[in-house]
Amino acid sequence: MRLLNKTAVVTGAAGGIGQAIVRKILAEGGRVVAADLSADSLKVFNDFPTDKLVTFSVDVTDYKQVEAMVLHAVTQFGQLDIVINNAGIGSAKPLLEHDPLGDFDPVTNVNQKGVYHGIVAGGRQFRAQGTKGVILNTSSVYATIASEMTFTYNVSKAAVDMMTKCAALELAPLGVRVCAIAPGRVDTPMLRQYEALGLWEHIRKEQMRQKFTLPSEIADVAVFLVSDEANCINGCTVHASDGFEN
Ligand code: NAI
Repeated sequence: MRLLNKTAVVTGAAGGIGQAIVRKILAEGGRVVAADLSADSLKVFNDFPTDKLVTFSVDVTDYKQVEAMVLHAVTQFGQLDIVINNAGIGSAKPLLEHDPLGDFDPVTNVNQKGVYHGIVAGGRQFRAQGTKGVILNTSSVYATIASEMTFTYNVSKAAVDMMTKCAALELAPLGVRVCAIAPGRVDTPMLRQYEALGLWEHIRKEQMRQKFTLPSEIADVAVFLVSDEANCINGCTVHASDGFEN
């Protein structure tokens, strides 16, 4: 019960990693605002106990909606303790095939600006409460390694790492920690696009364990990072990547 009576907001909650994080927070005694784009996707939480979990439709690219999501947590549960900026989208196109007017912003708006919005809205709420808090951002191993076809994704995740460092520095005087987690290849709908490309077995064999990381394994690390057990971890990106980048 490492998160007993703590209230967490989780974006991208209906996705593979998000759902696993939500389940783990509840198992640790916490309460959750599970936030994702559509009310329809959030139906996966219909059977969850409403005194511990509420859902919220949010587009993280819109600051006003992110602010409303944070206020919803306070209205529902009295206080905010944890913000997990996990919503993200992928990109797959050779750089010179990009439409520079249309291909950069969508990925940047979700992966970079969405995290920025969560940091600002969450940080302001912690300051208003006068309480300590934790912000956890979902980065990627691709924040630090180059790869073909994923230019906008890698750049957006590199920004997540730097936002994590800078925000940790500015928010530390308030008692707020800011960390990031960098998964490698996790078996979620986002990764399953490789199945359609016929590359699933090929990339599985590239894994050190010959298997993909499970969403629940990412959730284990995420919960550790937002718990008091990780009080001395701040401003850094923790790799939970099955050694993918080595
Ligand atoms: P997923 O596709 O299963 O879940 C992502 C969720 O984000 C979806 O439910 C989607 O509706 C939501 N979302 C997208 N745009 C949104 C927006 N504008 N506002 C609110 N929600 C939005 O993907 P997965 O794998 O669970 O990804 C979660 C995070 O983990 C992402 O940030 C991703 O970049 C990161 N990641 C995933 C890896 C993997 O191998 N699956 C590896 C490294 C990082």
